[in-house]
Amino acid sequence: MADFLDGYSIQRWLESCPNGYLIDTEYGHEPGLTEPELVLEDPFILDQAISLTVQLVAGERCALHASAGLIGCAPDHPSKRFLATQALDEARHVEIFTQRLFDLGVKKSELEDTIAERANPNLVKFAELLLEKVDKRDFVAGVVGQNIVLEGMAFTVFEMLHASMQTGNPKFAQTLSGTIADERRHVGFGENRIGSLIKEQPEKKPEVERLQKEMTYYMLATFADRFRDGAIAEQRERFRKAAEEAGEEVIQESEWQGVNLANADPAELEAALSETVLKEFKTRLGRIGIDYQTPVRP
Ligand SMILES: [Fe+2]
Ligand SMILES: [Fe+2]
Repeated sequence: MADFLDGYSIQRWLESCPNGYLIDTEYGHEPGLTEPELVLEDPFILDQAISLTVQLVAGERCALHASAGLIGCAPDHPSKRFLATQALDEARHVEIFTQRLFDLGVKKSELEDTIAERANPNLVKFAELLLEKVDKRDFVAGVVGQNIVLEGMAFTVFEMLHASMQTGNPKFAQTLSGTIADERRHVGFGENRIGSLIKEQPEKKPEVERLQKEMTYYMLATFADRFRDGAIAEQRERFRKAAEEAGEEVIQESEWQGVNLANADPAELEAALSETVLKEFKTRLGRIGIDYQTPVRP
């Protein structure tokens, strides 16, 4: 436990996070940066940006509820202290993505309705499965569901988004990069802490594997909804037209996991994202002694 405490202490968190990569940021980015004009001016692109950001807020609210809830049932104090830092990280993520909604023009009085209307039902189900375990004070299932499944997903989605936003939207890209650094720490904790607990309680394995399988199904269903509705092609077309009209060059290269995010087919993007997340799950679950369970493909 001593090594474990060193890596995940509040002291380490203060040094690397608030006094490290977040120093001098404002809502996760350099002060003064704004959303690109086109995002604010084109109603379709704006609508898409709001919907995407709503999914991030919904996921982060779930992570906040889960990490805060797990403090109460953690079996040791170093874990409780780490989870306290994580709860603050997640609260920050909720705040910075909520701030992005305001920056995109969502009124404070419309926030809850906007989230309720636009949160993907499959993502909502994914979150409910996890929070059920947390609310039953099931630490092992809760940590696997949160720090491996939810955060493994979030980490990869954020990396993909970051790669696609880096040139076109530095404000959002910077917000994402601080979040990615936080998520990396959270997944590390899950793996480090839960492996020994699974060894001590092998009878928990079937239940944890069932949770992973169900959550994975709803995650893939969320991705399917996102990539199969034609919105990506429409957005690209609008970006292309706007660049042409302004006499600017259209971004052609933005590679991530071997696919070109700027012009790959949406089906190819969905496959790259799903495969990257699932590979990550298999590796991390394998390290803690859990066999990855394949759900049916939505
Ligand atoms: Fe988060
Ligand atoms: Fe997290």
